[in-house]
Amino acid sequence: MSGVTRSRIIGTGVYLPARVMENAELAAQVDTSDEWIVERTGIRRRHIAADGEFTSDLATAAAREALLAAGVDAEAIDLIIVATATPDQTFPATATRVQAKLGMTKGIAFDVAAVCSGFLYALTVADAMIRAGQGRTALVIGAETFSRILDWEDRGTCVLFGDGAGAVVLRAEAGRGLSTDKGILATRLHSDGRYNELLYVDGGPGSTGTTGKLRMKGKEVFRHAVTNLSEVMLETLGAAGLSAKDVAWVIPHQANLRILEGTARKLGLGIDRVVVTVDRHANTSAASVPLALDTAVRDGRIRDGDLLLLEAMGGGFTWGAAAVRW
Ligand code: ACO
Repeated sequence: MSGVTRSRIIGTGVYLPARVMENAELAAQVDTSDEWIVERTGIRRRHIAADGEFTSDLATAAAREALLAAGVDAEAIDLIIVATATPDQTFPATATRVQAKLGMTKGIAFDVAAVCSGFLYALTVADAMIRAGQGRTALVIGAETFSRILDWEDRGTCVLFGDGAGAVVLRAEAGRGLSTDKGILATRLHSDGRYNELLYVDGGPGSTGTTGKLRMKGKEVFRHAVTNLSEVMLETLGAAGLSAKDVAWVIPHQANLRILEGTARKLGLGIDRVVVTVDRHANTSAASVPLALDTAVRDGRIRDGDLLLLEAMGGGFTWGAAAVRW
């Protein structure tokens, strides 16, 4: 088998805003209860960004921690991709704000918009650029301040989301083209624009001239999520020449504990193989996969050589998965 370039994750980092909002606080504002939220979603609390604390601040803090973990200086980064649906400004890209805050003056920096699947999209693009020789070292960040686009009077959505950021450093390494290689082994992405009205923001710079608020038909989204996620997970494992029994850890987008359980069940995996952080972070959209990954790296669950299956689905619809050997 001839040699190939692999993108290997060499460091992870996160940032969560200091303010924690418990379910009880929401129950004092809208007609809901801690019991309902825990039973239907698994969520107990979420973090909320402070006034004046922007997506680029969260992203930069997570990036700094990932760079430290990787032992890489910001000057060595060739590429920054920020996945976000809550950019600081309509333009320029939040990634360029992160680039400046890290003190970098060169390299490529841009955002991707795929909402909750954003991190999977950004990881796939970064991996493709690394393998195409566009750079050797990349920062891939998922960062969101969804608290700013929530309708805090809509109990059907405001209880589900939180703010946060997660980052990984990717580095090009020589692989053998085998499923035992370390790094990203396969990724698969999908989108289907027919489902816009099930999950969207009712504003935008080019339509209303306003930011808008998140709107969702939760039940319908839920149904599509379990089917689409289990299909793309199997497709991605197949592309890597692997199967569900090879998976050490599923690192899922954290939307709802029942989605995580249902998806794992379809793959014949127990919930004990799934990294769950939705209880502490709620749904942080593009940040949730790197937040979960960092949690399991730092608590020692993820071991050298483990096969990780990252997956997410979100507005668009968009969905995707990545098979990664640690
Ligand atoms: N507190 C109390 N009651 C509530 C609340 C609340 N916060 N929200 C809704 N309800 C009520 C509804 O009004 C409804 O009442 P009714 O029966 O009198 O009409 C009842 O609870 C049941 O509502 P459903 O929408 O049927 O509840 P469901 O069990 O489907 O749970 C939820 C709703 C949590 C939104 C679920 O559908 C879900 O998580 N969907 C996935 C959506 C998601 O996470 N999307 C984000 C990104 S996409 C992704 O990540 C997959």
